[in-house]
Amino acid sequence: MTTASQPPVPIDTSKAHPARVYDWLLGGKDNYPVDEAVGSQLPPEAKNAARQNRQFMHRAAGWLAGQGVDQFLDIGTGIPTEPNLHQIVQRILPTAKVVYTDNDPIVLRHAEALLVSRPEGMTDYIEADVRQPEGIVEHARRILDFSRPIALSLIALMHFVPDAQDAHGIVRDLVATLPPGSYLVLSHAASDIYPELAQRVTAEYAKGGIQLGFRTRTEVERFFDGLELVGPGLVTATEWVTSPPSVEPEGSGIYAGVARLN
Ligand SMILES: C[S@@+](CC[C@H](N)C(=O)[O-])C[C@H]1O[C@@H](n2cnc3c(N)ncnc32)[C@H](O)[C@@H]1O
Repeated sequence: MTTASQPPVPIDTSKAHPARVYDWLLGGKDNYPVDEAVGSQLPPEAKNAARQNRQFMHRAAGWLAGQGVDQFLDIGTGIPTEPNLHQIVQRILPTAKVVYTDNDPIVLRHAEALLVSRPEGMTDYIEADVRQPEGIVEHARRILDFSRPIALSLIALMHFVPDAQDAHGIVRDLVATLPPGSYLVLSHAASDIYPELAQRVTAEYAKGGIQLGFRTRTEVERFFDGLELVGPGLVTATEWVTSPPSVEPEGSGIYAGVARLN
């Protein structure tokens, strides 16, 4: 585990990385030709999915801050892309604290942007893998108060963790560390909304050496076991709104939900 205060680790530019492909899909500049090579082979819908997913993060984070949640543990943060989660929540609650985590060294390289907190609040960044949740929680305890509600955000992350690595058990263990009143915010690529597209996307990522495991609605719903889904429930990213939409939402191949731990 690397914390924001440690020196940057080398970036491997010979292999595509999920954070950098996602950055390319969002129109960012913090990626390399090898990442663009994967992104440019994806169907055009992939760019829409990245945008829709990011916009879900904006809405969910803003809604949670509006509920008074002022502590966030965000795992699989990605390369900073404004507005970042802390910017959204600190606009509403300037004292909010956010701990960011990603396992891609390039995110640490750009972590300064994640660490520019409002002076009243706090942000921190650790390089760590969600598959080792104990270390993440141990570090987060130094910043966040685990006796008060925390929003755990796993946004477009868990499709990088296969069942063989106990994806559901990892989420269950993370949620078990949170006190009542906490929330799980999770989005996940769907295998059963646009099945052909999903297969094309996973095949292109696999060619670039990135294993993706999209899941069905039932499989995604299991991440929320024992929690109470709030708002519109488990829906697609574009359907996750907290007031009635004025226009029909765009189609989306991403499931998204926010759930409360009672
Ligand atoms: C698609 S991006 C999502 C970024 C951000 N959460 C968002 O939704 O805008 C997925 C991120 O998860 C990170 N990631 C993938 N596998 C991970 C793991 N095992 N542990 C921690 N982060 C991981 C990638 O490096 C990447 O930054």
